[in-house]
Amino acid sequence: MAVLGIETSCDETGVALYDPERGIIAEALASQIALHAAHGGVVPEIASRDHVAKLAPMLKQVLAEADLSWADVELLAYTAGPGLVGALMVGACVGAGVGFGARLPTLGIHHMEAHLLAPQMPAGGPAFPFVALLVSGGHTLLVDAAGVGRYRILGETLDDAAGEAFDKVARLLGLPYPGGPPIAALAESGQADRYALPRPLARSGDLNFSFSGLKTAVRLVVERCRAEDSLERERAHIAASFQAAVVDSLTAKVLAAVEQTDYDAVVMAGGVAANQALRQRLAREAAAAGFQIHYPPMALCTDNGAMVAYTGWRRRADAEEGLPAVIARPRWSLEELKPPGA
Ligand code: KG4
Ligand code: ZN
Repeated sequence: MAVLGIETSCDETGVALYDPERGIIAEALASQIALHAAHGGVVPEIASRDHVAKLAPMLKQVLAEADLSWADVELLAYTAGPGLVGALMVGACVGAGVGFGARLPTLGIHHMEAHLLAPQMPAGGPAFPFVALLVSGGHTLLVDAAGVGRYRILGETLDDAAGEAFDKVARLLGLPYPGGPPIAALAESGQADRYALPRPLARSGDLNFSFSGLKTAVRLVVERCRAEDSLERERAHIAASFQAAVVDSLTAKVLAAVEQTDYDAVVMAGGVAANQALRQRLAREAAAAGFQIHYPPMALCTDNGAMVAYTGWRRRADAEEGLPAVIARPRWSLEELKPPGA
């Protein structure tokens, strides 16, 4: 059975074919980073237009690579939300349109569920239940994942996402977008305790996050350094101090979530999960507290079509036959999902 997955919720166009016996049999990914970099963040209209330009050729490319035709595809899964509404509409219209034209069952997929299930795609991936930390440019979520469609949100960000904080601080420091990798690189030559930056919500007693106050604190430090003409010298220390604050905040809430659920596995996904300082710190804490940490391979951590195809397969019981609805839900909580077939 080949499932075709389409991802267009933000700034990556992803298409992939998944076969339960063979795994990912073909995939294509087009990043829009270069298009948005000049603006310091994702511009929704530019994102939608680029998905329109890229998606149809990518569908053809993936089918050709797998040497399949539409008749060989048994299910078409596309990201239906959450995300940028215009970007989602591209995948939803193409998904439903092609599905109808080729007489395929179609299925609208929840983007965060796709991130959450992606680590289970490779052999040896984590089994339910687990705590998931989903940290990307658009989301910061801690989830109690008991099974497919059995999710409870333990905590989320009240303002900026963790990746967004990296991107905004990068901008303050004159680093390119996306900001995570250059901040991490700069932080390597800085002292993490040089600036006492806030750990927002450290004592809130819940599992929520907040990064906007931290960003403001960094801005004040940057302004002070600029006034004192010491910014060039201090940039690495600021990057290191900022990264340490984010790592502390994420780690503290992950530990509290493990304690609260009593689960023995944590799954990380999203672009920020690539951060080495975060990985090293969590590995140390996991060894000390006796739980497992799983990271999907980097290509599955960030947005891609394979996770959507794979989630389509896990949810094939929900596929719609006949005239498909076009579903695009910019806001959509994971907690609204039900187990497949329910
Ligand atoms: O999951 P992702 O590729 O895309 C979405 O946001 O959907 O995540 C991108 C985010 C960006 O904000 C980027 O700055 C951040 O992940 N990021 C990192 C690192 N690599 C990417 N943040 C911290 N450290 C990194 N090494
Ligand atoms: Zn994503």
